Order: sequence, then C-alpha cells, then structure tokens
Amino acid sequence: MNAPIHETGVMRLVFVGPPGAGKGTQAKVVCDKWKIPQISTGDMLRAAKAANKLPADLVAKMSAGALVPDETVIGLIAERTLGPDCEKGFLLDGFPRTVPQASALDSMLEKRKLRLDVVLALEVPRELLIERAVLRRTDKRTGQIYHLKYKPPPPDALLEHRADDREDVVKNRLDTYERMTAELLPYYEARGNLKRINGVGSVDEVSQRVLSALVAE
Ligand code: AP5
Repeated sequence: MNAPIHETGVMRLVFVGPPGAGKGTQAKVVCDKWKIPQISTGDMLRAAKAANKLPADLVAKMSAGALVPDETVIGLIAERTLGPDCEKGFLLDGFPRTVPQASALDSMLEKRKLRLDVVLALEVPRELLIERAVLRRTDKRTGQIYHLKYKPPPPDALLEHRADDREDVVKNRLDTYERMTAELLPYYEARGNLKRINGVGSVDEVSQRVLSALVAE
C-alpha cells in the first residue's frame, strides 16, 4: 500500500468536475496548504488568448463552450509539469477531461517514473452550477475568484466576467462536460484513486471535505 500522501511530502492531484463546481476555488486552498502549483488548462488557454497566441479556431471553440483538441492541452501539461516548481507535485485543475487525455497523462507520468496520488471529483447539481458560473467574477490583478451572491468582491477589485460564463454558453459547457467526461470517472474508479466529494455547501465546508479526503488515505 502507498504511504499516506501527507507523509510523503509529494502530492500529484487531479481535480475533475463540471464547470462551476468549485475546482479553482478549492484548488487554491489545497495548493496554499501543500505549497504545490495549481495548473489549470483553462487559465493557460485564457492567458494564451489574452496574449493573442491562441489560434482563432480554438478561441471559437472556447467561446462556444466546446473543448479544445486533446493534443493542445496534453502538450501544455507535458511542458508545464517539467517546471522546477513541480518537484513536490502539482494539482491539475480541469485536466484531464477525456479518456485520451487521462491515458496521455498516465503514459507521461510512467515515463517520468512518477505516480498520480488522487483524483478528486467535485459533485454539484446542475441548477447550482449554472448559478455559480453565471455570477462568478474574477479579480484581474490577483486572480481571486468571487461570486456576486456567495462571495462578494471588495469594492476595489478589478472585476472580470468570463466570456464563457454567459448562461447559454454555461449550459453548452455543462452538456459538453456530461458528454465528454462521462467515461473519465469510471476510468479512474477502475484504477482505485478516485475520491468523490460532495461540492454542495459553503466554500469552507467543501474545503474541509477535500482536505479530509487527502489525509484519509
Ligand atoms: P476551465 O477554465 O477549466 O473551466 P471549467 O472546467 O468550465 O470550470 P470553471 O472554471 O468554470 O469552474 P470551477 O469548477 O473552477 O469553479 P470556481 O472555483 O471558479 O475551462 C474553460 C474552457 O477551456 C473549456 O470550456 C474548454 O474550452 C477549455 N479547456 C480547459 N481545459 C481543457 C481540457 N483539459 N481539454 C479541452 N479543453 C479544455 O467556482 C465557480 C463560482 O462558484 C465562483 O464564483 C466561486 O466563488 C463560486 N463557488 C465555488 N465554490 C462555492 C461554494 N461551495 N458555495 C458557493 N459558491 C461557490
């Protein structure tokens, strides 16, 4: 049996969950505690878009709530996880999302003789996901995630409303998630490293569940 992850000092995690489930919010809590980088393919793609480095067809896919091609995100992750800040592990937020992405991650880690410790799946009902995503705002300067109802931003925040957080696009993203990610959870369930977390409740309540799941190996 593997050593409990909090004792090894190294942690490689994946956060899976539908749009608005709270992956980014909870990822920040875990990464602050374990001092590992949060690697979000969504953030990387948005940064490339802001720098005009994302091809137009991929910008169109993101704006419509569709996934970008597997090869694109696999390439981003392969390169980013070689960074020196990944020595003690990393948290992948929003990757993998499909079985080919999960299988590419497995091969990549195997080649590097590394293991994936835990896959956390945040579960939240659809009605709540729509409300969470549509009322989300992010502070441009700090990257802090707020919610107009559940976590109101301070008056001096420089707020940004994500282009894909319009209600119609959120619904498309949820449909895409259900269609494309359906096979991912059984994939990890079969490997025995999937933990399902109830994502309903306050941010602190969910954080408690996430942190307990990580120490209760
Ligand atoms: P990405 O950026 O990964 O978006 P997502 O998966 O749709 O997830 P979100 O960022 O919307 O939600 P979250 O779960 O992080 O929730 P958050 O913590 O912010 O991907 C965007 C796009 O990029 C994709 O559509 C695709 O096109 C492309 N892409 C990315 N990765 C890809 C991949 N691997 N393959 C192919 N394409 C890819 O919380 C949401 C809101 O709820 C916030 O306002 C927050 O304050 C609030 N909140 C959080 N927790 C709670 C709580 N417990 N109670 C009340 N409010 C809460």
